[in-house]
Amino acid sequence: MTPQQPNWWKTGTAFQIWPASYKDSNSDGIGDIPGIVGTLDYLKDLGVDIIWLSPMYDSPQKDYGYDISNYQDVWPSFGTLKDMDDLIEQCHKRGMRIILDLVVNHTSDQHAWFQESKQDKTNPKAEWYMWKDPKIINGERHPPNNWKSIFGGSAWEWVEERQQYYLHLFVKEQPDLNWELEVVRQAIYKEAIEFWLDKGVDGFRVDTCNLYSKDTNFPDAAISLQEEPYQPAFKHFENGPRMHEFLQEQRNVCLNKYGDILIVGECPGSSEETILSYLEANEFSCVFDFNTVDLGTNRTLGGKKHHGYKHQLPDFKESLARTQRLIQQHNVWGTVFLENHDQARSVSRFATDNPEYREAAAKMLALCITSLTGTLFLYQGQEIGTYNHSADWSIEDLRDIDSINAFNDVKDKYNDDPIWNKKAMRGLATVGRDNARLPVQWSAEANAGFTDANTKPWIRCHDDYKNVNIAEQLQRADSPLKFYQRMLKFRHEYRDLMILGDFELHDLYEQKAFTFVKKPKGTAEEGASKQELLVVCSFSDEEEPVDMPSRLKSRESELLVSTLGEESAGKYLRPWEGRIYLIK
Ligand code: NOJ
Repeated sequence: MTPQQPNWWKTGTAFQIWPASYKDSNSDGIGDIPGIVGTLDYLKDLGVDIIWLSPMYDSPQKDYGYDISNYQDVWPSFGTLKDMDDLIEQCHKRGMRIILDLVVNHTSDQHAWFQESKQDKTNPKAEWYMWKDPKIINGERHPPNNWKSIFGGSAWEWVEERQQYYLHLFVKEQPDLNWELEVVRQAIYKEAIEFWLDKGVDGFRVDTCNLYSKDTNFPDAAISLQEEPYQPAFKHFENGPRMHEFLQEQRNVCLNKYGDILIVGECPGSSEETILSYLEANEFSCVFDFNTVDLGTNRTLGGKKHHGYKHQLPDFKESLARTQRLIQQHNVWGTVFLENHDQARSVSRFATDNPEYREAAAKMLALCITSLTGTLFLYQGQEIGTYNHSADWSIEDLRDIDSINAFNDVKDKYNDDPIWNKKAMRGLATVGRDNARLPVQWSAEANAGFTDANTKPWIRCHDDYKNVNIAEQLQRADSPLKFYQRMLKFRHEYRDLMILGDFELHDLYEQKAFTFVKKPKGTAEEGASKQELLVVCSFSDEEEPVDMPSRLKSRESELLVSTLGEESAGKYLRPWEGRIYLIK
């Protein structure tokens, strides 16, 4: 009997492309789809199996593509529908798959559905968004409740024509769709989902997929921010009462027709139980939990960007271990990721961007995450160890609406005080989203080789692109990029342990090293081999001991990989070194 093959989306390595900053092929300073096509061989060589393309749909770009005005067209600066057909074909030709971003919690306010809906209270789409009457207090008009938008300010916007407010959990140009209506859900399935699956895409990353069902009583949120008029209300709109019903309908009516596709849901602010409930019902193939990327932030408590704090290494280990345990104990699937377009760079956040150790740290993180169980997602630039921009940048250098709002909140509250402004910028340099959205550093040429020398990129290039770039790293054997290439191959070679195996954390409380074991699933009687992998990662500027779990000490071990070279590996871990031992 041949053992069952795991689904393609379990073993594949995914790579996220954020199109505006990836590669500009027509010298307008904005990345585009033909630019992506031109780099597919590079991605294939890196070891990428699946591409996740962030929104390339037509959009006014208030939230850089997450505000869609037409699901069935491409933003002209990115290209055309024909370019998308080409991209899909070229990926498949190389044996790679491609998934798109599915953004259907909200549309742009420029979408035809909203334009019609806002006209009056009786048009055919009048109820397609979440409209509410104002609250009148002492004869004055107020939003229907005190909910704060995730991007700041009230979550409600007034529309004169209708004399009503509409709900927007993100910016005001992103009205929330009314999932309560079946006709709305059917339109979403047809226009946003089936249109693209019919074109041959292999699945979706589903944006904020746990916000569709809200508490439709719209109660006021409890006051947690004393000095502010609007309050975080996650409890009332995250993982709401009809989520399972909606997602199951979406699976049954729509997705199931397309076979074994990848549906990976973005699930911020969700407990393990909630995540498990989505996975066990097969509503998603796997999800992005926020265990690791929320470290050091107070996101769900309404914390500001400058409220960030440095987490401890045990918190990092535990955040990853939580997902590993979920996969292992409940026989569901998960993801492994440290970066995406909403997150600052992992080297800076979770390791070190001290120039002396930065490359070593980038390789150590590569070794660490490629050894974990789940579908691995990498983000553009991660493979070369891109690090955060400097805190000396000014707000004019940034483009992200969330960052700009966060800065302006501080600026307004403290009357443009330079020290407060500096504090706000430091926060953004640590966790701001533009860290991930700077042009990809292709080479040491002008504009990092992202666009041509005479064109101004839409956003500033990283200051250090002459040192940190793909062209240089491709021709240097000990570069982070070459190490990623090696590890992605290795991950397939040791698939049963690295991608599919069980995880055992060693010494959670150790502050300078992260040590874990990957074991085969199943017992020896079931045919599983006895071999295990010991993974040791240093998070230290000094030498550290290799701490082998006692139960492995009597077994023969062989050093398979060292991020700093197997031949020179001694008794102790060098600063920020990572190693893998095969335990026989
Ligand atoms: C989550 C996306 O990842 C983020 O970039 C976006 O701003 C919000 N959802 C709203 O769509």
